[in-house]
Amino acid sequence: MKASAYRLAGAVMLVASCSVSAQQSGGAAPDISAGKKRAAVCFACHGENGIAKIPATPHLAGQNRSYLEKALLSYRGGQLRQDPTMTAMAKSLSDADITNIAAYFSLLTRMDTGQTAVETLETRERIKPVSTVQYAAETTPATAPASPAMATNQTAAEPRTGDTIFNTYCTACHTTGAAGAPKLGDQAAWMPRINQGKETLYQHALQGIRAMPPKGSCATCSDEEIKITVDYLVAKSRE
Ligand code: HEC
Ligand code: HEC
Repeated sequence: MKASAYRLAGAVMLVASCSVSAQQSGGAAPDISAGKKRAAVCFACHGENGIAKIPATPHLAGQNRSYLEKALLSYRGGQLRQDPTMTAMAKSLSDADITNIAAYFSLLTRMDTGQTAVETLETRERIKPVSTVQYAAETTPATAPASPAMATNQTAAEPRTGDTIFNTYCTACHTTGAAGAPKLGDQAAWMPRINQGKETLYQHALQGIRAMPPKGSCATCSDEEIKITVDYLVAKSRE
């Protein structure tokens, strides 16, 4: 597998990579071809085209770039995500590697075969989406030893806010549009949904609808918290 990954690496360079990377870049511009070379070890499982080759492995093609970076940082940090394979893979990546690899996979499109994000939902349900909230805790362990509390705060008596739930559990899809999710603040996408009435929205959020997983895959969310988060989404996405 390694051999084939290396054989393919370099054979097909992303022609458009430079202009796209410049446009997407937040900080230093990522080096897409370096990312692709470094990612050769990942292709055995995630596919050179970002479509996973092994069951229960997430597709990476077209995934949001900063989401990929955060996921890799989380595996490398070992607090927010633990997976024997991915922790080991991520440990050997430098910050620059992570930036470059994330840029590479984010530029690939999910093509062919109907192997779209929908089919990764099973995997999605198992994998906890990374969020900016968690990321902040992960990157500042010295000043934020409170992460165990964060991890177990589903036991708190007070329901969490819509903002908190959204940024932890819903953002992976509803900020990026992954799986065809309507984006937060996208009125055109939300108004017809809002017009269904709140009870219908609650029901769809709680029970799932098409590629929207039940409770957005938040196993620790109470029904009340999901409803609060739907209210938050609606408030941010109307008019
Ligand atoms: C042996 C197979 C294997 C290899 C090699 C591998 N991965 Fe993974 N990867 C997985 C599996 C399985 C998961 C799901 C882990 C989990 O449940 O958290 C995963 C998860 C991920 C995720 C999280 C995706 C998401 O949707 O949250 C990223 C990003 C990722 N891998 C990137 C990489 C990169 C970059 C490399 C190479 C440096 C790599 N992987 C190598 C199997 C692999
Ligand atoms: C794995 C991706 C994913 C996650 C995570 C996710 N959603 Fe969704 N969501 C979707 C998709 C896709 C749709 C559009 C479904 C359709 O209409 O085909 C959707 C639609 C919705 C709708 C509109 C339903 C309707 O009737 O039109 C609501 C409300 C919603 N999501 C709430 C949430 C909340 C709240 C969370 C977090 C707790 C969340 N979602 C997490 C993918 C996701």
